[in-house]
Amino acid sequence: MLFFTEIRRVIKEGRNTVTIQFSNEIKSIPGQFVMVYVPGYEEIPLSLSSESSVMVRPAGITTKRLAEMKKGDVIGIRGPYGNGFEISGNRFLLIAGGIGIAPLRYLWEDVSGDLVLAYGERTGGNIINLDSFEGETFIFTENGSAGIKGVVTDVFDLINPSEFDQIFVCGPELMMPRIVEVLENQNILNKAQFSVERYIKCGIGLCGSCGMDPHGLRVCKEGPVLKGEMLKNSELGRYYRDASGWRNVWKD
Ligand SMILES: Cc1cc2nc3c(=O)[nH]c(=O)nc-3n(C[C@H](O)[C@H](O)[C@H](O)COP(=O)(O)OP(=O)(O)OC[C@H]3O[C@@H](n4cnc5c(N)ncnc54)[C@H](O)[C@@H]3O)c2cc1C
Ligand code: FES
Repeated sequence: MLFFTEIRRVIKEGRNTVTIQFSNEIKSIPGQFVMVYVPGYEEIPLSLSSESSVMVRPAGITTKRLAEMKKGDVIGIRGPYGNGFEISGNRFLLIAGGIGIAPLRYLWEDVSGDLVLAYGERTGGNIINLDSFEGETFIFTENGSAGIKGVVTDVFDLINPSEFDQIFVCGPELMMPRIVEVLENQNILNKAQFSVERYIKCGIGLCGSCGMDPHGLRVCKEGPVLKGEMLKNSELGRYYRDASGWRNVWKD
């Protein structure tokens, strides 16, 4: 589906993030993404944070422009694309790093069950509004300005992931290998689903820009939500490809 829509509401979420609510609802499931065209700028992939919203944090010129847009402005939307989270069971652990919280908000507002959220940000000012979350939360900040000083993966010192039916993860790629390692050591990687990012151009499985080694998975089509088992021995946390397809090694 491709359409233009008016922005119905812009909601500030912490210091550097906004929710852009559009006038149309998109029949979708949590974990799917849309391609958002910002007139005069680019078309970029953003996770749905509900059936009618995305959450954006400026990373470059297009996200910055989108975050400055106002009620009544018009944007283009293509999608929804990708597979989304598969849900079964009733005790869920959600692990979010930074703006990776966006698809997890859609998930927790959609699913019923016992929920535990582990959420990490660099500083307390970045933390988004969590009012709609009903469950136990563990907040981490790198500078200790809110919650527990540390990174979100420190949550494994506080809870046992094997007590959950499913584990949903979204956030910066460099936090993911640690999660894969912990869950693999406990033999529960099959309970986890990771929403991953690759450079997305077409969004519909045609151009190959978002391919991921070694299985050649297209993140826009077979993902963005990948099962834990698919990430074993993958390129995750080791390298990624930029807009030109050039291979770049991740650095801390
Ligand atoms: C499936 C998916 C879901 C995403 N969900 C969200 C979200 O909910 N909220 C949010 O704020 N951001 C999200 N992003 C990231 C967002 O797409 C990028 O921050 C945005 O494209 C940057 O564009 P820019 O012009 O502002 O910055 P640029 O200066 O062009 O780029 C800044 C960074 O974003 C990366 N980037 C740029 N264009 C793309 C692209 N087409 N595909 C993937 N990465 C790109 C660049 O590699 C660079 O690291 C998501 C990315 C993917 C792949
Ligand atoms: S972005 Fe073109 S195949 Fe995935």
